Amino acid sequence: MSRDHDRAGPSRALRAERLSIGLLAFALVAVACRNDWRTDMWYQPAIQPQTAPPRPEPEDSVPLGAEPPIADRDDAESLKDPVPRDAASVRRGAAIFHERCICCHGAEGYGKGPVSRFFPPAPDLRFPAIVQRSDGYLFGTITFGGRAMPPYVDGLTRNDRWDIVNFVRTLQGRPLEGGR
Ligand code: HEC
Repeated sequence: MSRDHDRAGPSRALRAERLSIGLLAFALVAVACRNDWRTDMWYQPAIQPQTAPPRPEPEDSVPLGAEPPIADRDDAESLKDPVPRDAASVRRGAAIFHERCICCHGAEGYGKGPVSRFFPPAPDLRFPAIVQRSDGYLFGTITFGGRAMPPYVDGLTRNDRWDIVNFVRTLQGRPLEGGR
């Protein structure tokens, strides 16, 4: 009897302890498995890529490092060329010119490119009227196009376009800056 009691006593306490540990573990697992806290980020009202147009920037905000906006070629007329007309810039400008401009303005920029036969003829870029234009006006022509010439802003950075202006100035006979 006393042996039974001795045996039953600790084993009942042990069973109670196991039971409570088990219940605690079950409660923890049950709480951990509740779906709502693990997936609430999933079901939030998210905008997936390409499902909505980008949000417009707040009114009157200006991106860091931005230039004043230019609306058309006349607006660009007074812009100053920020890229020094050195050999490297002219080389970059020549490469872009050969990709994008010679079809109309000719390999040398003197007009009579192959497309000019089917299109309002593109002028010789050494025409005095064009030489006398401001750098900004040439930049504006590349950016916005002319009366017949299409705009060439797509895929060209601002500096790319100034490199083209520098190249056009060089083919018009203007010397490089810095004497190089
Ligand atoms: C599809 C043919 C075509 C291409 C390509 C083209 N142009 Fe022109 N460009 C013209 C025509 C036509 C004119 C003259 C009429 C006008 O103003 O549109 C012209 C005029 C110009 C003028 C003189 C603008 C003025 O009013 O004095 C410049 C400078 C010029 N182009 C530079 C470029 C440069 C630089 C490129 C390459 C980025 C280029 N063009 C590519 C057709 C073209």
